[in-house]
Amino acid sequence: MARAKPNMNIVFVGHVDAGKSTCVGRLLFDTGAVSEQEMKKLKEEAVKYGKVGFEFAYIMDKIKEERERGVTIDLAYRKIITQKFEITIIDAPGHRDFVKNMITGASQADSAFLVIAAPAGVQPQTTEHLWLLRTMGVKNIAIVINKMDEEEIGYKEDKFNKVKEDVSKLLKQVGIDPVKTPFIACSGLKGDNIVKKSEHMAWYKGPTLIEQFDLFPAPDLPTNLPMRMPVQDVYEITGIGTVPVGKIETGVMKQNMKVKILPGRTGEGIEGEIKTIEMHHETLKEAYAGDNVGINIRGVGKKDIARGDVICDASAPIPIVKEFIAQIAVINHPTVLAKGYTPVFHIHTAQVPCKFTELIAQIDPRSGQVIKEHPDFLKNGDVAKVKIRPQGNLALETQKDNPYMGRFAVRDAGQTVAAGMCLEITEKK
Ligand code: GTP
Ligand code: MG
Repeated sequence: MARAKPNMNIVFVGHVDAGKSTCVGRLLFDTGAVSEQEMKKLKEEAVKYGKVGFEFAYIMDKIKEERERGVTIDLAYRKIITQKFEITIIDAPGHRDFVKNMITGASQADSAFLVIAAPAGVQPQTTEHLWLLRTMGVKNIAIVINKMDEEEIGYKEDKFNKVKEDVSKLLKQVGIDPVKTPFIACSGLKGDNIVKKSEHMAWYKGPTLIEQFDLFPAPDLPTNLPMRMPVQDVYEITGIGTVPVGKIETGVMKQNMKVKILPGRTGEGIEGEIKTIEMHHETLKEAYAGDNVGINIRGVGKKDIARGDVICDASAPIPIVKEFIAQIAVINHPTVLAKGYTPVFHIHTAQVPCKFTELIAQIDPRSGQVIKEHPDFLKNGDVAKVKIRPQGNLALETQKDNPYMGRFAVRDAGQTVAAGMCLEITEKK
């Protein structure tokens, strides 16, 4: 039943301008996935927009506004095959205005590269993205220290070590052992340690970026849980019809399977039957947890389904919640978080405003012991058990029932305020 090579989704995250798209573009060019001819065209386009140096980033940044501004706005996907895996590379935006797209990308990833520009070091979105990776359940993280080249920092080991030291502190704060974390020294622009070993950093003994792909452990595929596919986008394709796309988080999807789409427009859901399943332009009879697919569902049209809906096995649908209890960590609130606060919750691909109706207890994150019952407020760094009431229809599961569908990020005024996981649910009747 298993494929020849397991699928892995790898997201590139990090502060704006760290060089994420450039590293991905360079990797595609150096592996021959992008031709000299194509590269020449992109270089000319970069010159035209006054963005010399962005030619590699343009491989992933395809939207006109992205090219003009020299920033990634939306997620871009690209498939490559390595010795061990069929990999989907997800290039996420670093700019703080587009963190919600980054969260969607993180929610689909098994592994991640946190990219840091060596001259800049740790930046606000370095920390924010690291927290988000943890919250969204990305287990394997490698740190990429980019822009090591001559112009920037002269391939210096001491600069690399300084950034490594700073990042190690952050890793410890989110409960990751820095000693077990790979740190890669590279230059996406010059091509050092992306696919080719650098000739300028004899002191560096670690893997190249592409070698690290195969050093990540194969994702454990939760094919034993009920089928869940959060909808990432919906396309209208001539000759096929409505095509929702996204990653199957858990379970197995089969042709002719009866499915339920929740919450749907009404909150009641809508039923259908899987007609076709496609992955990377290939038609499949069944697809598994971890697969990125586009599907067509008999009985479901464009108006019935949208980003944020979850396509489920009709015999085991996901609950729609009236209220839930969660454990959260407050990451970055401008003041303090109190009862009544109603920010936007990002859960799998959904975004729903939810109200904090009760602060149940503040908890010591190291021991799990209650520090204070019913605190009046929570501040940055606090961990707490809270009660939450969604203001719209929300499909969610407990961490225990399905860890892939139980994590969320809380956002307000352009920042990630908190992150957490669902512990208990009261279903909507
Ligand atoms: P966002 O997606 O907008 O967050 O940025 P990004 O992290 O994808 O960065 P991008 O690849 O767009 O590169 C930003 C700028 O950094 C461009 O001007 C690149 O030429 C430059 N850059 C990227 N990698 C390197 C590198 O290794 N060395 C040098 N010197 N410049 C680099
Ligand atoms: Mg980018």
